[in-house]
Amino acid sequence: MRRRAAAVLAWVWRYVVAGAVLRVSRRRTIHRERELPASTRAETGTAALLFAAALAGLAFVAIYAFDDANTQLLGLSIAVSLALVAAALILAAARVVPQETLEEPRPDFSVDGPKSADIERFSAHQQEEVEAAALTLREGTDGVTRRGLLGAAGAAAGIGLGAAALVPLASLGPAVGGRLAASPWKDGVALVEENGIAVKAEDLEVGSFLTAFAKGADKEQLATSLAVVRVAPDELELPADRADWAPEGILAFSKICTHAQCAVSLFRYPLFAERSPGPALVCPCHYSTFNVLDGGERIFGPAVRPLPQLPLRIEDGVLVAAGPLSGAVGASWGRVREEG
Ligand code: FES
Repeated sequence: MRRRAAAVLAWVWRYVVAGAVLRVSRRRTIHRERELPASTRAETGTAALLFAAALAGLAFVAIYAFDDANTQLLGLSIAVSLALVAAALILAAARVVPQETLEEPRPDFSVDGPKSADIERFSAHQQEEVEAAALTLREGTDGVTRRGLLGAAGAAAGIGLGAAALVPLASLGPAVGGRLAASPWKDGVALVEENGIAVKAEDLEVGSFLTAFAKGADKEQLATSLAVVRVAPDELELPADRADWAPEGILAFSKICTHAQCAVSLFRYPLFAERSPGPALVCPCHYSTFNVLDGGERIFGPAVRPLPQLPLRIEDGVLVAAGPLSGAVGASWGRVREEG
């Protein structure tokens, strides 16, 4: 009996404490001071800054379209546009929208009591915060007299900046498609120098380097340029399936580096082989180095694939392709790496 009375008393005590906590939390007051700037000059200034930001954004579009995408001017125009928007927002925050100072007592969660009381008190606090936020939104434009002008200026700035953000998408251009993989090299295509004259085997001395192209091909095509070198035939260490690819020690490789597509334009041909590394093609960009003796394998640098080699033969004294390149030309990305 005594135990039951104690349980009833504890139950009543919990409700008394919960009620007290709820009452205290509802009685919390928020001290609020409000000031309406009502400055038409500040509103006009904000609108002017936003319109200027719109013009700077549109200037970006015009520079992109008509000034060959001058990158300095593009950067300047977008920076000016963003700076003007920032200035407009700072001015609006300081001189246009209502200024409020709120002092809210921090909720006291340290009160011991029943769990349900804590929850109720917290719910009441949340409800107050929601109502305060709704009030802030409703009163956010109090004192602003030129709402139409500011709205139009904000929309103009949004359009200007939006256009500046979208226009560069045009630079993505058409898909590359199979152009990277296209190659003019096949059996019988003659090698020519830049002036179109056929490359004669006798013009190449041991240790020399020459840039050659596919006869009749577009020189802009990635695969057309070759680095042609000559070594002593007894130095060659080509794989068995390439044994006849280098007549009289003349070798041809794609001139496009397999790292990042710089032109491989240096040929190292040591004259004192005992103390020097062997003959190699070197890319001047990041010094990827390719051993010409074993078919263009990479021996140094960031490239991960060998230089594609072109099989050669000599017909009537001039160099001619004896087949296609041994691999995909160009940097080792995407399909090039898989197929290389
Ligand atoms: S592009 Fe040749 S080493 Fe980087």
